[in-house]
Amino acid sequence: MMTNHKRISRRSLLRTGAALASAPLLMPVRAAMAEADDAPFPLRATSGQASLRSATDGATKVWSYNGKIPGQEIRVRQGERVRVRVENGLEEDTTVHWHGIRTPNAMDGVPFLTQAPIPVGGAFLYEFDALDAGTFWYHPHQRSSEQLGRGLYGPLIVEEADPIRVDRDLTWMLDDWRITRDGQISGDFGNGSDEAHGGRIGNTVTINGVIPDRTAVRSGERIRLRLVNTANARIFGLDFGDLAPVIVAMDGQPVTPHVPESGIFVIGPAMRLDLVLDFTGKPGEVATVTDAFYEGFEYRLVDLVYGAEALRASVPDWPVDLPKNPLAEPDMSTATRHQIVFNGGMMGQTMMGDSRGAMVDQMRQGNFWFINGKAATGAIMDPLLTLPFGTSHVFEMENRTAWHHPIHLHGHSFRVIARDGQPTRNREWQDTVMMAPKERVEIAFVADNPGDWMFHCHILEHTAAGMAGVIRVAPGTIKT
Ligand code: C2O
Ligand code: CU
Repeated sequence: MMTNHKRISRRSLLRTGAALASAPLLMPVRAAMAEADDAPFPLRATSGQASLRSATDGATKVWSYNGKIPGQEIRVRQGERVRVRVENGLEEDTTVHWHGIRTPNAMDGVPFLTQAPIPVGGAFLYEFDALDAGTFWYHPHQRSSEQLGRGLYGPLIVEEADPIRVDRDLTWMLDDWRITRDGQISGDFGNGSDEAHGGRIGNTVTINGVIPDRTAVRSGERIRLRLVNTANARIFGLDFGDLAPVIVAMDGQPVTPHVPESGIFVIGPAMRLDLVLDFTGKPGEVATVTDAFYEGFEYRLVDLVYGAEALRASVPDWPVDLPKNPLAEPDMSTATRHQIVFNGGMMGQTMMGDSRGAMVDQMRQGNFWFINGKAATGAIMDPLLTLPFGTSHVFEMENRTAWHHPIHLHGHSFRVIARDGQPTRNREWQDTVMMAPKERVEIAFVADNPGDWMFHCHILEHTAAGMAGVIRVAPGTIKT
């Protein structure tokens, strides 16, 4: 199970770059939405270069938005309209998906399902209202493994009307790249080994496009840290050592402030965590953040270095509860229950799944993963389920594989209500839920956004190899 991870070179992960390399970590790029209605925010996907290893190191060829990795931050207030004109400067078709945002179906950015792909040289105007405040992100939904794997992604932050008070509001977009010896992105996208195992795990981890080293903090300060996992496949499990961050939002949605029972902050691909972090150390101390997700492959992610001067002598007592978003509450007394089984993938030398029949034939054709026995084989898909508009549903999901899968539903947020039959403590709202190997997870939501919505694993090589489907919300009006 760990074979892929052996490719990680500790040297590249632990490289001590110039201290300057960490400077971008604490300087969010702000790009306010264009004020005038007639001037949407321009976002151009192109190939270009980036300095992933340090600000002064040689360049890596990447694909990016507006020449930056991550793409420029789009930041609006809750309730504002987002208008983005995406231009395709790539040499292949693309689209943009607004991950976690509840948009009308036509703005969801899934090629063939919700829109025609944006052709080479073409453009598409995305516009929608930012209904929910929170931490979201954008990325292509076409040949996602390669388009994201080469650097196409960026943050979309929707501010609360009345945000919680902090000293600094930072976004860390975590990524994982597979870099060759000559410093370029390895071109082995879509290989069967990645697809049948844990996906494309890389060898170089970046925060906001740079291999992190040290970053400055101040004794007594409070930071809201928005973590976004943009990696194709790597799961992060951050250990903040003596610091005790509190999770205040998951996948953009407010949650009862809490610390994870394990003390490790797990973030699967596409997932977000908003943390409130109080810096309780003394001037001159160093706090190390470690990624401890894969046992035996722990590494130092970044050192947080306290400056010589304290900002304040004690931790502020400002409240950390975020205001609720306008999500419809599922009605558990009328909810329809659906069984959804995830199958496939390698376990040692054996395929997991029904050893006879249709799945075996599919695997020979490179479809390694199945939802209810079906692998997504093309762009046009019959819905797995059709849900009447306005009705409540529980998905009883079962992971029968030996692998983790972060499962994402478009167009909705859902409550995670149970794991392995036990009610969850916080009934957290998510748009992407991690399923551990063999785990059973129940989610509940109201089908209140009409259209055809993707439902897929966000390990992008699993999506490509079949772990995807469509959930249809039939149009209609809510019965009263
Ligand atoms: Cu983040 Cu279907 O995507
Ligand atoms: Cu998966």
